[in-house]
Amino acid sequence: MDFSAKLDEALNRLHEEGRYRTFIDIEREKGNFPHAVWNRPDGTQQPVTVWCGNDYLGMGQHPAVLEAMHEALDATGAGSGGTRNISGTTVYHKRLEAELADLHGKEAALLFTSAYIANDATLSTLPKLFPGLIIYSDALNHASMIEGVRRNGGDKRIFRHNDVDHLRELLAADDPAAPKVIAFESIYSMDGDFGPIKAICDLADEFGALTYIDEVHAVGMYGPRGAGVCERDGLMHRLDIINGTLAKAYGVMGGYIAASAKMCDAIRSYAPGFIFTTSLPPAIAAGAAASVRHLKTDQERRDLHQQQAKILKLRLKGLGLPIIDHGSHIVPVIVGDPVHTKALSDMMLDEFGIYVQPINFPTVPRGTERLRFTPSPVHGPREMDTLVNAMDQLWSHCALNRAELAG
Ligand SMILES: Cc1ncc(COP(=O)(O)O)c(C=O)c1O
Repeated sequence: MDFSAKLDEALNRLHEEGRYRTFIDIEREKGNFPHAVWNRPDGTQQPVTVWCGNDYLGMGQHPAVLEAMHEALDATGAGSGGTRNISGTTVYHKRLEAELADLHGKEAALLFTSAYIANDATLSTLPKLFPGLIIYSDALNHASMIEGVRRNGGDKRIFRHNDVDHLRELLAADDPAAPKVIAFESIYSMDGDFGPIKAICDLADEFGALTYIDEVHAVGMYGPRGAGVCERDGLMHRLDIINGTLAKAYGVMGGYIAASAKMCDAIRSYAPGFIFTTSLPPAIAAGAAASVRHLKTDQERRDLHQQQAKILKLRLKGLGLPIIDHGSHIVPVIVGDPVHTKALSDMMLDEFGIYVQPINFPTVPRGTERLRFTPSPVHGPREMDTLVNAMDQLWSHCALNRAELAG
């Protein structure tokens, strides 16, 4: 086979569809988020404001987090030096797991190198623990959950997104004696809509199913201690397994599940994605623990975050832009075409120093390509004015272009 020609073919397909991904090379500036420097392809540099990051609360720059990381780095060195089983469990990992178990009101928590791995490893391991397990998975679940469900060798049922009637139909059609788990998310990251958590927990009770929730886009930001939407809605105790990330609102890196001590023990003992990989560096675990601890009490930051999202949505709606608003902190503006989305994103960066990455298929369905803005408590009024002004100018310009192309 001509391997090189095959690679060209694969890459050209993406170029032709307008969804070839170009990474924007930025240098974050310590203490100055959301400002950064863009290293342009021509070798020059340009200051930019990041409007699409998932450091939702700016915790990646928080002094308490940085201090904890520096301390751990100086005390222990760089890496953990092993898997959790073989020399890679430190006091920092244990402290972080205790912090997370406490956050979610569970007996235990289990750390992974990312929430992607936590989802994939846990969901692919559950059928080993419960032979004959059927997994009911929301159609819009994140790729990491899809991957875990796909590889698990058990039976799976996909229910239409957030459709509890469909979920009920699927549950009712299966053997009542079969072990079951329902896997879904509390906030779906691309539209910013909420999962029907209570209704799903009710169905789980009725059909004797376990519940598995991904709170990746909610932890740190919702609930009086930042444990997520389940905490906000008083439902945390009804979820058997809660998945979260330490990389988004907590601003560091890593993922976890929180569950009963026995569940965590079993996943710890059977999941290859937990067992056969080096544990997180102690400095990362220390920074994440500091961030989780800090956000248990920093309600002001959570309030400001929500307020910023509301203001941005109001202002973009005021311009008549097609934004999706489900009342969460995520602000998607639907463009509906990959080429236009990329062109808009390029112009925002080039002409206004605003960095917002285009979101294309397969991250979102074709025809719903979008710009996804993530306002944070550290975006000031001036940054917001610049963004709204840029969208106003560019949207009109693109609408004209589109009309010309169509005509
Ligand atoms: C819903 C959801 N779950 C899991 C993940 C993975 O999180 P992490 O970045 O910690 O691997 C993501 C990442 O974007 C996500 O959007």
